[in-house]
Amino acid sequence: MTITGPVPEAGLTGADLTEASLHASLSDPALESMNFLNEIGMRYPEAISFASGRPCEEFFDVGLIHSYLDTYCGYLAGERGLPADQVRRLLFQYGRTKGIIGDLIARHLELDEDISADPESIVVTVGCQEAVFCVLRALRRDSRDIVFAVDPSYVGLMGAAMLADMQVWPVRSGPDGIDVHDLAAQAARARAAGLRPRACYVIPDFANPAGVSLTVPQRRLLLDCAAREGILLLEDNPYGLFHDGEALPTLKALDTTRQVVYLGSFAKTGFPGARVGYLIADQRVAAQGGGICLLADYVSKIKSMVTVNTSPVTQALIGGKLLQHGCCLAAANQRETQVYQRNLHQVLDGLAARFGEPGAAVGTGLSWNTPRGGFFIVVTVPFTADDAMCEYAAREHGVIWTPMSHFYANGGLSQLRLAFSQLTPEQIETGLGRLAAMVKSVSQ
Ligand SMILES: Cc1ncc(COP(=O)(O)O)c(C=O)c1O
Repeated sequence: MTITGPVPEAGLTGADLTEASLHASLSDPALESMNFLNEIGMRYPEAISFASGRPCEEFFDVGLIHSYLDTYCGYLAGERGLPADQVRRLLFQYGRTKGIIGDLIARHLELDEDISADPESIVVTVGCQEAVFCVLRALRRDSRDIVFAVDPSYVGLMGAAMLADMQVWPVRSGPDGIDVHDLAAQAARARAAGLRPRACYVIPDFANPAGVSLTVPQRRLLLDCAAREGILLLEDNPYGLFHDGEALPTLKALDTTRQVVYLGSFAKTGFPGARVGYLIADQRVAAQGGGICLLADYVSKIKSMVTVNTSPVTQALIGGKLLQHGCCLAAANQRETQVYQRNLHQVLDGLAARFGEPGAAVGTGLSWNTPRGGFFIVVTVPFTADDAMCEYAAREHGVIWTPMSHFYANGGLSQLRLAFSQLTPEQIETGLGRLAAMVKSVSQ
């Protein structure tokens, strides 16, 4: 946020505002967390940043954008048999609120995730972030409706919930992600307090920020628990495809009772500049006037009042990328997956080389988790790793990481998140050296 200097309230004139008169989310530190890291990055441009969970850039190519568009237009004219004027209209005009690439997304889900989704249950959104906001907005009838989320959680969930005026109720984290027993306990507590648990937000694969993944038995326990408690599971899965060759089934693939709303993003498997995501909401809803609709129909009504429809041009880009790879995003991302796996192992090996094996580090008191994929590793340190320490690390040692306290309702002060997706091997080597120097200087 740009502040030009302290402006005394007394100096305000008629049309000026106070922050306190704006939506409460705007005064919440959670909405500042991205700004904090961006600012540190800008102030210390020489620092090596383990903060950003952005996709690697080495395969970006402007030519691909043209070729994706051509491929998608060719598909409309060929496989779909649309005349030229309809192809033009589809790209240039306002479009269907649920989107125009639901059929291709359904093919991708079948191939990559073993999920069979009716395209009618898919809403294409402006990034996954819009999907999160719209589904929370739909589920919040009044102030009694709450959403559970594991503590620590993704800031995008917390921000979207704030904008939807929905309370996020924290659930304890186990070593592999959400603690299912605590979820049941928290549901009972919330109900006793007169609240209505509606959903639980989870990232079962290589979670942001914790890097952990739920085991298959835990996934089944979670589905059973959600069914028993009558809550939906909001499954967010931007990192699942970046594994070591052994994929675990998504909750949606295991879901036999339509308990799961699946939140998809093409920010990592496509490219974030397209701003295309989607959700699958195949839950049936008894309409007030009689008849049965899909939750997707209601979510799309909300979307129609937020962004009207997702840009057909950027949908065409993602559609073209899907078509060029037979709708298989695992195939489309082979090179990227190799980069992320290489970086993951380099960071894990580099930490072990500098601090000993995790948990066994004599003298340093450091430990870290060992994910099999994704973009993130969490390091636990024997000192306070807060914003001030992050600033010190950038200033004195030329290395940036994310304080985990940004992701906790309360706590996380001795943890930091290392994101390695965007770094070269040389940067990782130098960055870990700087991290080790910082740890040494703080521990002395
Ligand atoms: C957990 C999680 N969900 C979703 C996203 C991506 O959202 P979008 O598709 O809006 O870029 C991210 C990206 O950082 C993420 O970490």
